Amino acid sequence: PKQPVKVLVTGAAGQIGYAIVAMIARGLMLGPDQPVVLHMLGIPKSAETLNGVRMELIDAALPLLRGVVATSDEAEAFRGVNFAVLIGGWPRKEGMQRKDLIAKNVPIYQSQASALQQHAAPNCKVLVVANPANTNALVLKEFAPAVPAKNITCLTRLDHNRALGQISEKLGVHVGDVRNAIVWGNHSSTQFPDASHATARTQHGEMPVVELIADEKWLKEEFVSVVQQRGEAVIKARKQSSSLSAASADCDHMRDWILGTPKGTWVSMGVYSDGSYGVPEGIFYSFPVTCDKGEWSIVQGLEVDDFARSKMELSANELDEERSMAYEFVSSEIDQ
Ligand code: NAI
Repeated sequence: PKQPVKVLVTGAAGQIGYAIVAMIARGLMLGPDQPVVLHMLGIPKSAETLNGVRMELIDAALPLLRGVVATSDEAEAFRGVNFAVLIGGWPRKEGMQRKDLIAKNVPIYQSQASALQQHAAPNCKVLVVANPANTNALVLKEFAPAVPAKNITCLTRLDHNRALGQISEKLGVHVGDVRNAIVWGNHSSTQFPDASHATARTQHGEMPVVELIADEKWLKEEFVSVVQQRGEAVIKARKQSSSLSAASADCDHMRDWILGTPKGTWVSMGVYSDGSYGVPEGIFYSFPVTCDKGEWSIVQGLEVDDFARSKMELSANELDEERSMAYEFVSSEIDQ
C-alpha cells in the first residue's frame, strides 16, 4: 500500500475549498489508491469555519483520509507538504480594479513563497488558483528562488474544460469525446480559447472540430467570448462565482500533472514561459502541455495563424502589465 502524502489547500474555509477537500479525500486528485493527509490553511478570522470543515471531513468517514491539519499558521500549513493547491487570497469585491486586487494579493503570495521554500517537502508541486492566478504564481516563483520554476503552475484548466464543454454542446457529442482545445494566456478575459487544433470522436472516426463545426464566425467570435465570459455568466446566474467546476478543474490539473496525460491528449496549464510560440519569458502563461512522470512539457510545433497570434499577444501584454503592477506592491519587510 502507498504511504500517505500531504496535500495543502489554502483558503479551505472558502467556496472552492469546501468543494475540493472531499474530492481530494475521495481520490479524485491523486488516484483512488493514494491516502492523503489534508492540511487546510485559513485566516484567523475563519478558524471556526475551518474547524467545522474539519468536523465534516471526520463525519464523512473517508477511508483515504489519514489526517487533517486545520490552521491559520503558514509554517504549520506548509510543513512537509508534497502538493499545494493555493486557493486562498483576497477576493475581488465590486468596484475593485485589477490593480487593487494585485495590491492585496502580492503580500499574501510573497509571504506564502517564504513558507513554501522553508517548510514544504522538496519537489513540492504547486497549483495557484487564487486570482490574479498567473501573477500570484509569478510572485510565488520570484520569492521562492529555491523552488524550481517547473514546480509552480496556475489554473487555466477550468477555462480549458469550459472550452471542451462548449464544443461538446455545439456538436451534440459527449464531452469525453472532445479533446485538444487550447487556452492561451492569462486566466482573465484576455485569454484566447482556441478550437483550431481540437478534435472530436464521431461515427466516422476522430475529426477536426473546425471541419465538424465549419462556422468561422462561431469559432472565432461566439466560442471565444462565451468561454472568456463564462465566469461572469455563472456569477450572474448563481450570485456566487464558479466553485464546483473550479474544484473539479483543480483536481483534473493536478491528476494529469502527476499521473500523466492520456496518449495523444494535451491540456492547458499556466506555466512559466520559456519563450515557446514567441510568448515572452518571465510571465506565467497558459500553454498546451502534455505530462509524463510528474513533468509537464509544452506541446511544440502547432500552427499559429495571424488571428491567433494577435489574440495571444494581447494576453501576453496584459500579463506583462500585471507583472509591473505586482512589483509596485512588493514588500521589503517579508523575510526571505
Ligand atoms: P472565497 O472568498 O470563498 O474563499 C477564499 C478564502 O481564502 C476565504 O476563506 C479567505 O478567508 C481565504 N484567505 C484569504 N487570505 C488568505 C490567506 N492569506 N491564507 C489563507 N487563506 C486566505 O473564494 P472562492 O470562491 O473559494 O475562490 C478562491 C479564489 O479562486 C479567488 O481568488 C477566485 O478569484 C479564484 N478562482 C480562480 C479560478 C481559476 O480558474 N484560476 C476559478 C475560480 C476562482
